[in-house]
Amino acid sequence: MREDNRMKAIVYTEYGPPDVLQLKEVQKPVPKEHEVLIKVYAVSVNGSDWEGLRGKPLYARLGGLRRPSEGILGSDIAGRVEAVGKNIREFQPGDEVFGETLRYKGGFAEYVCAPERGLALKPASMTFEEAAAIPQGAVIALQGIRDKGQVQPGENVLINGAGGSAGTFAVQLAKYYGAEVTGVDNTGKMDFMRSLGADHVIDYTREDFTKKRKQYDLILDVTAHRSVFAYQRALKPGGSYFAVGGSVVTFFQILLLGPWIRRTKGKHIRILAVQPNRKDLLFITELVEAGKVVPVIDRRFPLSEVPEALRYVGEGLAKGKVVITVE
Ligand SMILES: NC(=O)c1ccc[n+]([C@@H]2O[C@H](COP(=O)([O-])OP(=O)(O)OC[C@H]3O[C@@H](n4cnc5c(N)ncnc54)[C@H](OP(=O)(O)O)[C@@H]3O)[C@@H](O)[C@H]2O)c1
Repeated sequence: MREDNRMKAIVYTEYGPPDVLQLKEVQKPVPKEHEVLIKVYAVSVNGSDWEGLRGKPLYARLGGLRRPSEGILGSDIAGRVEAVGKNIREFQPGDEVFGETLRYKGGFAEYVCAPERGLALKPASMTFEEAAAIPQGAVIALQGIRDKGQVQPGENVLINGAGGSAGTFAVQLAKYYGAEVTGVDNTGKMDFMRSLGADHVIDYTREDFTKKRKQYDLILDVTAHRSVFAYQRALKPGGSYFAVGGSVVTFFQILLLGPWIRRTKGKHIRILAVQPNRKDLLFITELVEAGKVVPVIDRRFPLSEVPEALRYVGEGLAKGKVVITVE
């Protein structure tokens, strides 16, 4: 029989392909003062898990340059509260919750500790799988489209990487706020992006949106790899570009040249630093309950098949979210 302080988890000790992941029995985590211990029922896969597995781009190695500092990936969890730290007031054992783990790690396991600020009560109307499909992607999209992007009706918005985790929420939110939306992703996701509400779609394997002479009020880019000059070309005067993820070279260019482009061209090119929080989770939850936004689940995998699930996301096959169900 298994001891009470042990659990199953998908662990890795080196960066690499999905084969470096192993299903193991490890120590069950213990919640710190501001943490909640959750029995995980569902956890979704994000681009950040793929990056954390590969150790690419370089920012995915923050805290572990040569080897991963934390051995368990997995950010977006839904489950039941098992125990709470001594300063926790908002939650109690038995509550059904969902949200983001600390530094987007630890979720591919039977139990995980998460800070209470990134958690919310799961509405009874939502399944654990639906709830797990929401946090990281939806919060990125909300902060990019509503808070930083301040999208207004009739504006032209382009989402680069629109068929993945954050992109599917971003397309739906931009439509919700009345924008005309262009989605960019790979060949296999054209119809999918249209089904989310995209008015126009671009296949990045065939066309470069920065060379099409069309300009946008807002570009939200989950996969920024081009030069800042290409991005500024695709922006209307006064328009804004936000990089969410992508290459470190592009990020440095944005930090160095973004302020100069703003002064000389009046266009805003910045990095979106996302702040996980409960208020945003609850806002999205209301939109989901009202049927305005849908967490689109493409496929489900059991915990033992996290490597296959990550491969599916990493190879660009996932249309929306992939969810791991934990027995
Ligand atoms: N800034 C922050 O605070 C913050 C916080 C959390 C996460 N992040 C970052 O946010 C990103 C989130 O990604 P996600 O979870 O939405 O990833 P995802 O689910 O993997 O989706 C990315 C999508 O972009 C597509 N894509 C790849 N290259 C492209 C290109 N050149 N042009 C257009 N589309 C392309 C991918 O398809 P293919 O693979 O077929 O190309 C995929 O459909 C990650 O980089 C993560 O590190 C940032």
